[in-house]
Amino acid sequence: MRRLLPGGDTDELADDALADAYRLPPGRSLRVNFVTSLDGAVTVAGVSEGLGSPGDRRVFRLLRALADVVLVGSGTAAGEGYRPVPPSSTVGRLRAALGRPAELPIAVVSRRASLAPGDRLAAAPTLLVTCEAADPDRRAALADAGVTVLVCGEDDVDLPLALDRLADLGFEQVLCEGGPALLAAALDDGVVDELDLTVAPALVGGESRLLPGALAAVVRPRLVQLLEEDGVLFTRYALDR
Ligand SMILES: NC(=O)c1ccc[n+]([C@@H]2O[C@H](COP(=O)([O-])OP(=O)(O)OC[C@H]3O[C@@H](n4cnc5c(N)ncnc54)[C@H](OP(=O)(O)O)[C@@H]3O)[C@@H](O)[C@H]2O)c1
Repeated sequence: MRRLLPGGDTDELADDALADAYRLPPGRSLRVNFVTSLDGAVTVAGVSEGLGSPGDRRVFRLLRALADVVLVGSGTAAGEGYRPVPPSSTVGRLRAALGRPAELPIAVVSRRASLAPGDRLAAAPTLLVTCEAADPDRRAALADAGVTVLVCGEDDVDLPLALDRLADLGFEQVLCEGGPALLAAALDDGVVDELDLTVAPALVGGESRLLPGALAAVVRPRLVQLLEEDGVLFTRYALDR
């Protein structure tokens, strides 16, 4: 992987240089990571795997290693088969090597609290970000199973409040891994600080897009970094709040 911007460089980025390229300053942030095709598709046959590459998996793991918590919509958690990230995992070991707590909690966003109590994510240290409208019995069952249930909002999840609650728990640097519905809500709420978009050289078509519909207003992110490997582009865009 090599750096194209800022300052083009043909040198292969070693692991420590790549970590420096993605490390954030201390303090709160919401970073979003997605992989898309050239035409903005986010899945091939229903999952993102068909857009992946060794470089994308490397950046995906690094972003996880640098984050305090992963925030993900329940559609993505279910569709992509999310599971806990234990200290013994590749990400856990990378976190330890970077001097961070080896365990990485997953926070599932679900208006309906639709995380199944028997799901492998339905245990500590998983968090559920939901709202008053979710079935109280279901919320209680998930809490009994060890999930930290954050009730943020009444009829829908209040994302700014959810991020405040996560920060209160010490999860300041939040990595959002989508999906499209959660990204759209976060953009409309103006809470996204950074979009890291991996652009895979593929044309896919279909209806699974980065954003499911029109945003309330056009968002104009600013390109701050561009890396490349095997024709795959790794972008970092900053969003002005
Ligand atoms: N290429 C990539 O990088 C990438 C990344 C992520 C996902 N994906 C793909 O995207 C697809 C999933 O898309 P999606 O839009 O359904 O995913 P999603 O945003 O992960 O899930 C939608 C569900 O999450 C909950 N949710 C999301 N935003 C919410 C909000 N603001 N307030 C309350 N609840 C909220 C709701 O759950 P409840 O219905 O439980 O209330 C909603 O039905 C999958 O096929 C996945 O493979 C691709």
